[in-house]
Amino acid sequence: MRIDKLLANMGYGSRKEVKNLLKKSAVTINEKVIKQSQTHVDPNEDVVKVLDEVVEYREYIYLIMNKPPGYISATEDHREQTVIDLLESEDVIFEPFPVGRLDKDTEGLLIITNDGKLAHQLLSPRKDVGKTYYAKIDGTVTEEDITKFTEGVTLDDGYQTKPAVLKILDSGEISEIEVTITEGKYHQVKRMFESVGKQVVYLKRMKMGDLSLDSSLQLGEYRELTDEEYNYLISITNK
Ligand code: URA
Repeated sequence: MRIDKLLANMGYGSRKEVKNLLKKSAVTINEKVIKQSQTHVDPNEDVVKVLDEVVEYREYIYLIMNKPPGYISATEDHREQTVIDLLESEDVIFEPFPVGRLDKDTEGLLIITNDGKLAHQLLSPRKDVGKTYYAKIDGTVTEEDITKFTEGVTLDDGYQTKPAVLKILDSGEISEIEVTITEGKYHQVKRMFESVGKQVVYLKRMKMGDLSLDSSLQLGEYRELTDEEYNYLISITNK
């Protein structure tokens, strides 16, 4: 990789600003001052320093966020605020994007990364990664609904969903439920409840596979995945 690309990727400014750093003899590769922007560097082998500080190169970033309502799961939008707007600039430089979509009013677990391969695998219907949601439903959720969800329901566009696991946590005029689905159709949970004549009034994603939302993350907060969490995601995508 070219040294100017590496430093620009790591947030040392635009290619032009990096060129100036190089001109000022601020950059060394293996203790040797480098002035040429096109100098090749192996980020895994060479020690790069800027003003005597080692540059820790990394290509990928993996974040877990507790998505707040009011933000859309996109990287940019003319009118709406996006989940990327909630990130620190030191994370935005990696150009991450949300893995899959939560509706604007949905809260909870959102993985944000720039690792396209992992994102693709996590979303692949063939990988059968379960997504577990907690929801409040206007209406009394019944055993019959559980059976219907187990068999798969028909959405408004005729699509027959895969089996889903529905648990009633509290049934009343406003029921509290947990549902696990393995697909990610547009508004899927809301439309599944519509198919049994009920309306979702609150929705929060709690889990992807066995990766749970960190309860210490307040709405809008995020952190990097731990090694254990990252390894878990890799393991479920390699199945
Ligand atoms: N299902 C929905 O209806 N909305 C979401 O945000 C996620 C799943």
